[in-house]
Amino acid sequence: MEVVVCAAAHDAAALAADAIGRLVTRKPEAALGLATGSSPLGVYDELARRVRTGTVSLARARGFLLDEYVGLPREHEQSYRSVIHRDLTSRVDLDPARVHGPDGTAADLEAECAAYEDAIARAGGIDLQLLGVGTDGHIAFNEPGSSLASRTRIKTLTGQTRRDNARFFGGDPDAVPRHCLTQGIGTIREARHLVLIASGPAKAEAVRQLVEGPVSASWPATALQLARHVTVLLDPEAASSLERLDYYSETYSAKPPWQGL
Ligand code: GLP
Repeated sequence: MEVVVCAAAHDAAALAADAIGRLVTRKPEAALGLATGSSPLGVYDELARRVRTGTVSLARARGFLLDEYVGLPREHEQSYRSVIHRDLTSRVDLDPARVHGPDGTAADLEAECAAYEDAIARAGGIDLQLLGVGTDGHIAFNEPGSSLASRTRIKTLTGQTRRDNARFFGGDPDAVPRHCLTQGIGTIREARHLVLIASGPAKAEAVRQLVEGPVSASWPATALQLARHVTVLLDPEAASSLERLDYYSETYSAKPPWQGL
Protein backbone atom coordinates (compact mmCIF):
# COMPACT_ATOMS: atom_id res chain seq x y z
CA MET A 1 0.00 0.00 0.00
CA GLU A 2 1.34 3.39 -0.96
CA VAL A 3 0.33 6.30 1.26
CA VAL A 4 0.79 9.81 -0.13
CA VAL A 5 0.10 12.84 2.01
CA CYS A 6 -0.63 15.78 -0.27
CA ALA A 7 -0.31 19.39 0.82
CA ALA A 8 -3.56 20.33 -0.93
CA ALA A 9 -6.62 18.53 -2.23
CA HIS A 10 -5.86 19.49 -5.84
CA ASP A 11 -2.48 17.69 -5.57
CA ALA A 12 -4.26 14.43 -4.71
CA ALA A 13 -6.70 15.01 -7.56
CA ALA A 14 -3.84 15.64 -10.00
CA LEU A 15 -2.01 12.46 -8.92
CA ALA A 16 -5.14 10.35 -9.41
CA ALA A 17 -5.80 12.01 -12.78
CA ASP A 18 -2.18 11.28 -13.76
CA ALA A 19 -2.69 7.60 -12.96
CA ILE A 20 -5.89 7.51 -15.03
CA GLY A 21 -4.19 9.40 -17.87
CA ARG A 22 -1.29 6.93 -17.94
CA LEU A 23 -3.71 4.00 -17.84
CA VAL A 24 -5.84 5.16 -20.78
CA THR A 25 -2.73 6.01 -22.80
CA ARG A 26 -1.50 2.44 -22.32
CA LYS A 27 -4.96 0.88 -22.54
CA PRO A 28 -7.54 3.21 -24.13
CA GLU A 29 -10.43 0.79 -23.50
CA ALA A 30 -9.62 0.57 -19.77
CA ALA A 31 -12.41 -0.20 -17.31
CA LEU A 32 -12.56 2.63 -14.79
CA GLY A 33 -14.25 2.08 -11.45
CA LEU A 34 -16.10 5.30 -10.65
CA ALA A 35 -16.97 6.44 -7.15
CA THR A 36 -19.52 9.02 -6.10
CA GLY A 37 -19.35 11.26 -3.04
CA SER A 38 -17.26 14.36 -2.49
CA SER A 39 -13.85 12.62 -2.34
CA PRO A 40 -13.37 12.01 -6.10
CA LEU A 41 -14.81 15.37 -7.21
CA GLY A 42 -11.40 17.00 -7.60
CA VAL A 43 -10.29 14.09 -9.80
CA TYR A 44 -13.33 14.55 -12.02
CA ASP A 45 -12.65 18.31 -12.26
CA GLU A 46 -9.08 17.54 -13.23
CA LEU A 47 -10.13 14.94 -15.83
CA ALA A 48 -12.64 17.40 -17.29
CA ARG A 49 -9.89 19.99 -17.59
CA ARG A 50 -7.47 17.53 -19.22
CA VAL A 51 -10.07 16.23 -21.68
CA ARG A 52 -10.94 19.83 -22.59
CA THR A 53 -7.31 20.65 -23.26
CA GLY A 54 -6.79 17.41 -25.18
CA THR A 55 -4.20 15.87 -22.86
CA VAL A 56 -6.44 12.94 -21.89
CA SER A 57 -9.19 11.10 -23.75
CA LEU A 58 -11.70 8.74 -22.16
CA ALA A 59 -13.49 8.17 -25.48
CA ARG A 60 -12.74 4.44 -25.56
CA ALA A 61 -12.81 3.83 -21.80
CA ARG A 62 -15.62 2.15 -19.92
CA GLY A 63 -17.01 3.13 -16.52
CA PHE A 64 -18.43 0.99 -13.73
CA LEU A 65 -20.19 2.46 -10.71
CA LEU A 66 -19.49 1.15 -7.24
CA ASP A 67 -23.00 1.31 -5.90
CA GLU A 68 -26.55 2.62 -6.23
CA TYR A 69 -29.51 3.40 -3.99
CA VAL A 70 -32.42 0.97 -4.10
CA GLY A 71 -35.66 2.56 -5.26
CA LEU A 72 -34.27 5.69 -6.91
CA PRO A 73 -35.03 5.78 -10.62
CA ARG A 74 -32.11 6.59 -12.90
CA GLU A 75 -33.39 10.11 -13.50
CA HIS A 76 -33.65 10.95 -9.77
CA GLU A 77 -31.11 13.68 -9.16
CA GLN A 78 -29.49 11.70 -6.32
CA SER A 79 -29.31 8.33 -8.07
CA TYR A 80 -25.60 7.59 -8.48
CA ARG A 81 -26.28 7.30 -12.23
CA SER A 82 -27.35 10.96 -12.26
CA VAL A 83 -24.58 12.00 -9.90
CA ILE A 84 -21.83 10.47 -12.03
CA HIS A 85 -23.36 11.99 -15.15
CA ARG A 86 -23.34 15.44 -13.54
CA ASP A 87 -19.91 15.10 -11.94
CA LEU A 88 -18.06 13.34 -14.74
CA THR A 89 -19.68 11.92 -17.86
CA SER A 90 -21.33 15.15 -19.00
CA ARG A 91 -17.97 16.93 -18.73
CA VAL A 92 -15.67 14.48 -20.52
CA ASP A 93 -15.66 12.46 -23.74
CA LEU A 94 -16.76 9.24 -22.00
CA ASP A 95 -19.92 7.96 -23.73
CA PRO A 96 -22.71 7.61 -21.09
CA ALA A 97 -23.69 4.35 -22.80
CA ARG A 98 -20.32 2.96 -21.75
CA VAL A 99 -20.96 3.75 -18.08
CA HIS A 100 -22.56 0.89 -16.20
CA GLY A 101 -24.13 0.64 -12.79
CA PRO A 102 -26.52 -1.63 -10.96
CA ASP A 103 -30.18 -0.66 -11.40
CA GLY A 104 -31.72 0.04 -7.99
CA THR A 105 -35.23 -0.19 -9.43
CA ALA A 106 -34.84 -3.67 -10.99
CA ALA A 107 -37.75 -6.01 -10.25
CA ASP A 108 -35.34 -8.76 -9.22
CA LEU A 109 -32.54 -7.07 -7.30
CA GLU A 110 -30.60 -10.27 -6.67
CA ALA A 111 -30.54 -11.08 -10.38
CA GLU A 112 -29.48 -7.48 -11.04
CA CYS A 113 -26.50 -7.88 -8.68
CA ALA A 114 -25.45 -11.14 -10.34
CA ALA A 115 -25.77 -9.52 -13.78
CA TYR A 116 -23.59 -6.62 -12.66
CA GLU A 117 -20.89 -9.01 -11.47
CA ASP A 118 -21.05 -10.69 -14.89
CA ALA A 119 -20.76 -7.34 -16.66
CA ILE A 120 -17.59 -6.50 -14.72
CA ALA A 121 -16.15 -9.95 -15.45
CA ARG A 122 -17.01 -9.65 -19.18
CA ALA A 123 -15.21 -6.30 -19.26
CA GLY A 124 -12.10 -8.15 -18.06
CA GLY A 125 -12.27 -6.69 -14.54
CA ILE A 126 -11.71 -3.16 -13.31
CA ASP A 127 -8.34 -1.63 -14.20
CA LEU A 128 -8.42 1.31 -11.82
CA GLN A 129 -10.98 1.83 -9.09
CA LEU A 130 -11.43 5.22 -7.48
CA LEU A 131 -12.64 5.04 -3.88
CA GLY A 132 -13.67 7.27 -1.03
CA VAL A 133 -14.16 6.04 2.51
CA GLY A 134 -17.05 6.61 4.91
CA THR A 135 -16.42 8.00 8.38
CA ASP A 136 -17.26 4.52 9.70
CA GLY A 137 -14.76 2.90 7.34
CA HIS A 138 -17.22 1.76 4.68
CA ILE A 139 -16.11 1.46 1.07
CA ALA A 140 -18.76 1.76 -1.62
CA PHE A 141 -21.74 0.86 0.60
CA ASN A 142 -20.08 -2.04 2.40
CA GLU A 143 -21.01 -1.10 5.93
CA PRO A 144 -19.17 -2.36 9.04
CA GLY A 145 -19.72 -6.09 9.41
CA SER A 146 -19.68 -6.70 5.64
CA SER A 147 -17.99 -9.92 4.59
CA LEU A 148 -14.51 -9.22 3.29
CA ALA A 149 -15.23 -11.71 0.49
CA SER A 150 -18.63 -10.25 -0.44
CA ARG A 151 -19.81 -9.75 -4.02
CA THR A 152 -22.34 -7.26 -5.43
CA ARG A 153 -25.48 -7.48 -3.30
CA ILE A 154 -28.23 -5.64 -1.45
CA LYS A 155 -27.19 -3.89 1.75
CA THR A 156 -28.96 -1.91 4.45
CA LEU A 157 -27.40 1.47 5.14
CA THR A 158 -26.42 2.34 8.70
CA GLY A 159 -27.92 5.33 10.49
CA GLN A 160 -24.48 6.96 10.35
CA THR A 161 -24.28 6.70 6.56
CA ARG A 162 -27.83 7.99 6.18
CA ARG A 163 -26.98 10.94 8.43
CA ASP A 164 -23.74 11.56 6.48
CA ASN A 165 -25.59 11.46 3.16
CA ALA A 166 -28.64 13.46 4.34
CA ARG A 167 -26.90 16.57 2.98
CA PHE A 168 -27.80 15.37 -0.52
CA PHE A 169 -31.44 14.82 0.49
CA GLY A 170 -32.40 18.21 1.89
CA GLY A 171 -30.72 17.48 5.23
CA ASP A 172 -33.25 14.77 6.12
CA PRO A 173 -31.74 11.34 6.99
CA ASP A 174 -35.19 9.78 6.59
CA ALA A 175 -35.22 10.87 2.94
CA VAL A 176 -32.07 8.79 2.28
CA PRO A 177 -33.02 5.35 0.94
CA ARG A 178 -32.57 2.53 3.47
CA HIS A 179 -31.13 0.03 1.02
CA CYS A 180 -28.56 0.00 -1.73
CA LEU A 181 -26.87 -2.27 -4.22
CA THR A 182 -23.13 -2.28 -3.83
CA GLN A 183 -20.11 -4.01 -5.27
CA GLY A 184 -18.84 -6.34 -2.56
CA ILE A 185 -15.52 -6.03 -0.83
CA GLY A 186 -14.38 -9.16 -2.69
CA THR A 187 -15.36 -7.48 -5.97
CA ILE A 188 -13.58 -4.23 -5.16
CA ARG A 189 -10.42 -6.00 -4.00
CA GLU A 190 -10.04 -7.60 -7.44
CA ALA A 191 -9.51 -4.26 -9.21
CA ARG A 192 -5.98 -4.08 -10.59
CA HIS A 193 -5.32 -0.71 -8.94
CA LEU A 194 -7.28 0.87 -6.11
CA VAL A 195 -6.92 4.61 -5.58
CA LEU A 196 -8.57 5.85 -2.39
CA ILE A 197 -8.90 9.55 -1.65
CA ALA A 198 -9.72 10.95 1.79
CA SER A 199 -9.63 14.43 3.23
CA GLY A 200 -10.62 16.21 6.41
CA PRO A 201 -10.46 15.33 10.10
CA ALA A 202 -13.68 13.27 10.03
CA LYS A 203 -11.84 10.64 7.97
CA ALA A 204 -8.74 10.39 10.21
CA GLU A 205 -9.87 7.38 12.23
CA ALA A 206 -11.12 5.44 9.19
CA VAL A 207 -7.79 6.18 7.48
CA ARG A 208 -5.80 5.05 10.53
CA GLN A 209 -7.70 1.77 10.58
CA LEU A 210 -7.42 1.28 6.84
CA VAL A 211 -3.67 1.87 6.67
CA GLU A 212 -2.40 0.67 10.04
CA GLY A 213 -5.23 -1.20 11.76
CA PRO A 214 -5.82 -4.96 11.79
CA VAL A 215 -7.89 -6.31 8.90
CA SER A 216 -11.43 -6.45 10.23
CA ALA A 217 -14.98 -6.51 8.92
CA SER A 218 -15.68 -3.83 11.53
CA TRP A 219 -13.64 -1.43 9.37
CA PRO A 220 -14.41 -2.60 5.82
CA ALA A 221 -11.73 -0.39 4.24
CA THR A 222 -9.04 -2.44 6.03
CA ALA A 223 -9.71 -5.13 3.38
CA LEU A 224 -7.65 -2.96 1.03
CA GLN A 225 -4.61 -4.30 2.84
CA LEU A 226 -5.35 -7.56 0.99
CA ALA A 227 -5.51 -5.98 -2.48
CA ARG A 228 -2.58 -6.17 -4.88
CA HIS A 229 -2.01 -2.49 -5.70
CA VAL A 230 -3.40 0.23 -3.49
CA THR A 231 -2.69 3.96 -3.38
CA VAL A 232 -4.08 6.11 -0.58
CA LEU A 233 -4.10 9.85 -1.27
CA LEU A 234 -4.64 11.99 1.83
CA ASP A 235 -4.65 15.56 2.96
CA PRO A 236 -2.76 16.31 6.20
CA GLU A 237 -5.96 16.21 8.30
CA ALA A 238 -7.06 12.80 7.09
CA ALA A 239 -3.49 11.58 7.67
CA SER A 240 -3.23 13.10 11.14
CA SER A 241 -3.75 9.87 13.14
CA LEU A 242 -1.21 7.77 11.23
CA GLU A 243 1.83 6.56 13.18
CA ARG A 244 4.26 5.90 10.34
CA LEU A 245 3.84 9.21 8.54
CA ASP A 246 7.58 9.80 8.33
CA TYR A 247 8.12 6.50 6.60
CA TYR A 248 5.35 7.14 4.06
CA SER A 249 6.74 10.52 3.08
CA GLU A 250 10.31 9.18 2.95
CA THR A 251 9.18 6.37 0.64
CA TYR A 252 7.23 8.69 -1.61
CA SER A 253 9.93 11.34 -1.86
CA ALA A 254 12.55 8.68 -2.68
CA LYS A 255 10.46 7.35 -5.55
CA PRO A 256 12.09 7.56 -8.96
CA PRO A 257 10.42 10.32 -11.00
CA TRP A 258 9.52 7.97 -13.86
CA GLN A 259 7.48 5.73 -11.57
CA GLY A 260 3.84 6.75 -11.28
CA LEU A 261 1.43 5.71 -8.54
C1 GLP B 1 -20.98 7.20 0.21
C2 GLP B 1 -20.56 6.39 -1.01
C3 GLP B 1 -19.14 5.96 -0.94
C4 GLP B 1 -18.28 7.14 -0.53
C5 GLP B 1 -18.64 7.58 0.86
C6 GLP B 1 -17.82 8.78 1.35
O1 GLP B 1 -21.66 6.51 1.18
N1 GLP B 1 -21.38 5.25 -1.27
O2 GLP B 1 -18.72 5.44 -2.20
O3 GLP B 1 -16.93 6.78 -0.57
O4 GLP B 1 -19.99 7.92 0.90
O5 GLP B 1 -18.34 9.94 0.81
P1 GLP B 1 -17.57 11.31 0.70
O6 GLP B 1 -16.52 11.10 -0.32
O7 GLP B 1 -18.61 12.29 0.28
O8 GLP B 1 -17.03 11.59 2.05
